[in-house]
Amino acid sequence: MKDSGVASALPPGSTIGIIGGGQLGRMAAIAAARLGYRTHVYCPETDSPASHVAATTTVADYNDLDQLTAFAKSVDVVTFEFENIPVASVLHLSQSVAVRPSARVLEIAQDRSNEKRFFNGLGIGTAPWRDVLSADDLKTAVAALGRPSVLKTARMGYDGKGQIKIEADTDLDQAWADLNTDKAVLEGFVTFTGELSVIIARGLNGDSRCFDPVWNVHTRHILDTSTVPAPITPAQERSAIDIATRAAQALDLVGLLAVEMFLDQSGALLVNEMAPRPHNSGHWTIDACVTDQFEQFVRAVCGLPLGDPARHCDAVMTNLIGDDIERWRDILNKPNAKLHLYGKTEAREGRKMGHVTEVKPRSP
Ligand SMILES: Nc1ncnc2c1ncn2[C@@H]1O[C@H](COP(=O)(O)OP(=O)(O)O)[C@@H](O)[C@H]1O
Ligand SMILES: [Mg+2]
Repeated sequence: MKDSGVASALPPGSTIGIIGGGQLGRMAAIAAARLGYRTHVYCPETDSPASHVAATTTVADYNDLDQLTAFAKSVDVVTFEFENIPVASVLHLSQSVAVRPSARVLEIAQDRSNEKRFFNGLGIGTAPWRDVLSADDLKTAVAALGRPSVLKTARMGYDGKGQIKIEADTDLDQAWADLNTDKAVLEGFVTFTGELSVIIARGLNGDSRCFDPVWNVHTRHILDTSTVPAPITPAQERSAIDIATRAAQALDLVGLLAVEMFLDQSGALLVNEMAPRPHNSGHWTIDACVTDQFEQFVRAVCGLPLGDPARHCDAVMTNLIGDDIERWRDILNKPNAKLHLYGKTEAREGRKMGHVTEVKPRSP
């Protein structure tokens, strides 16, 4: 049963299949349960954060077509908290169950080259970039874009993994060998004044709602804090929302889309990347909005009317990475702080263990 375009809502009591078992799936499963839905998580890892709260979990490989078939039969709709699953697997699922967002959306968002081509095709700016398939391509691209620049694997990168900064003295043959991939992009280095993201939800009937743009600070390529309101002008805010809205429409998205952007020195917005799922920079919405990103995600995927994303407080979300989780007791004693932990037992370096959102009354 493919999506027929007919807007039919899945009522509470239905089962949402979630591909991926991380904290995004965990928080989506909590939101789903609050609305009376069951969740069935599919991921390769045992004891995953999402499995602790889902009604059912299948532990299997993303390429296991038999397990995917059984999963599709046991759920009423399939969505993702992790977009890097093979498109062939998504197409396989789509033969027997509605998959939202669609395989086409994943195909674009999984690959940095597709993603940049998509935005540029809409007339939306990115850093200047080139496809890089070999050391020779890298040399040509660096000659065109200059140094510093950033070499990124086209696929599977996250939290700065799969990236090499090309500095004045970087040896390009070595950089290409170190990246260890057959498909990459080179991006001009953006000396940004800040980073923003916008999370938009789009429903089955094409309605869309945006959360307030967020100001993001990364430390060692991992998101450190997200702050709302973002210190940007009303025109920049409109422009950020306009970019997310046009992207969601052009993708014919059903679900959530997070668009990460740089604010360059001229005050213009350049798109960095997108993710068609709940996003780390939207965790503040749980404690600061009427409808949070996870509930909005559930509503969109189930064909329900979207909720009100209005923000009722100011908020700063801080990720708890690795050993930061040891601060949990202090955080619990802090007024206005809301602690969220993901149930991960091993606090490895760079691992997202939880987050804390500090709220204060909304500034006028
Ligand atoms: N072209 C660039 N210019 C300057 N900084 C960059 C560039 N690309 C990435 N960065 C920095 O690295 C961070 C992570 O890069 P990103 O492309 O978003 O990859 P990831 O998938 O790891 O999030 C960005 O949020 C930004 O801080
Ligand atoms: Mg990013």
